[in-house]
Amino acid sequence: MDKLIITGGVTLDGDIRISGAKNAALPILAATLLADEPVTVGNIPHLHDITTTMELLGQMGVGLVVDEKLNIEVDTSTIEKFYAPYELVKTMRASILVLGPLLARFGRAEVSLPGGCAIGSRPVNLHIEGLARMGADIEVKNGFIHARAKRLKGAHLVLDQVTVTGTENLMMAATLAEGTTIIENAAREPEVVDVARCLIAMGAHIEGAGTDTLIIEGVQRLGGTHHYVLPDRIETGTYLVAGAMTGGRVKVKDTNPAMLESVLEKLEQAEIKLNTGDDWIEVDARGQRPQAIDIRTAPYPAFPTDMQAQFTALNSVAEGSGMISETVFENRFMHVQELQRMGADIKLEGNVAITQGIKRLTAAPVMATDLRASASLVLAGLVAEGDTLVDRIYHIDRGYERIEEKLAQLGARIHRVPG
Ligand code: EPZ
Repeated sequence: MDKLIITGGVTLDGDIRISGAKNAALPILAATLLADEPVTVGNIPHLHDITTTMELLGQMGVGLVVDEKLNIEVDTSTIEKFYAPYELVKTMRASILVLGPLLARFGRAEVSLPGGCAIGSRPVNLHIEGLARMGADIEVKNGFIHARAKRLKGAHLVLDQVTVTGTENLMMAATLAEGTTIIENAAREPEVVDVARCLIAMGAHIEGAGTDTLIIEGVQRLGGTHHYVLPDRIETGTYLVAGAMTGGRVKVKDTNPAMLESVLEKLEQAEIKLNTGDDWIEVDARGQRPQAIDIRTAPYPAFPTDMQAQFTALNSVAEGSGMISETVFENRFMHVQELQRMGADIKLEGNVAITQGIKRLTAAPVMATDLRASASLVLAGLVAEGDTLVDRIYHIDRGYERIEEKLAQLGARIHRVPG
């Protein structure tokens, strides 16, 4: 397995470009299954999860044409299988996103149940219950979701819990259902809005995207379109934290400050200077040490759980103590024990991490466990004394495009050791 070696102590300085959002590209590629004409998706990030999704669509018989900029044209006219195998689903839970589109367009789907993962059990009961309420016959047997439906019917759904991919799956399914579907307690994430934008461009009738109530009026068919994926707000936040932790200056371009206001507010609370433009954000922490802050993760527009690990790393070297509460996932502190091995003073009490900042972490061999935890270990390596070795970085490759190249562009001393 590949490893990353990071020599700490460099103050980052420079500009980088933000890639397209993984968590919008994945559902949008699934949404192309709904169209009876080719759909082209642009600004796709070069990530392992994208490759997995292309494999998933390809093994169904869907035509995929990829150009050198990773624009992907999807043509479903040759589809012959409606099946998502365990081998692929176990490596990428987001494969569940093909369930709604396959059921809505083709009336059938066999999708492996996604297993749990490092951060929690990750059930998909809300996806299944919602589709059943829309008239699907769904049986869960031998680790698979077997779904059938002549034609889905609109329903009034009130989700017990805010679920991002659950909202996306049900919204996609509702676009071709008979009648109107209302989804209450819907997720409001910018990625959900981007999926809705793409569906509307394909001919869907969707109102309320970005609010907690979606109203979808089913149509007979969806056609082709060209969609350009929105920038990745979590990649954006991760590089801003890198600038803050190293006391450097980092400007992230081709992004949108409006997508991560809660993150920018926390950086300001940490007394880090920020400048923003329409499509860029600059953090200037030169000569400064961040102040520790309190974080409580929750669904958008509150502070994103996907930025919790990065801010736990920031608090580890900040002035003072902070309290980090993780309310979305039951086990999303796997990075804490690795940060403790680097000297971080963090106490875990249930779903709260109490941090006491220290001046300097010390390098250590550490192991990545999930996507965002790995990012926090790389951030810690940037400021630790010595050479930090981060193992199992395939987790990182799932969500961060060319992380060592982008960090090296900012002056970091980081290189990949093929494993
Ligand atoms: C999406 O996961 C993201 N993934 C995650 O990003 C992100 O952390 C998460 O939303 C929360 O923002 C993609 O968009 C591909 P949820 P998702 O359904 O949709 C419970 C990353 O780092 N729940 O919003 O799987 C669930 O257990 C990844 O890029 C049910 O109980 O998350 C969790 O506690 C990690 N039943 C909570 O809801 C369900 O049917 C929120 O999960 C569905 C969810």
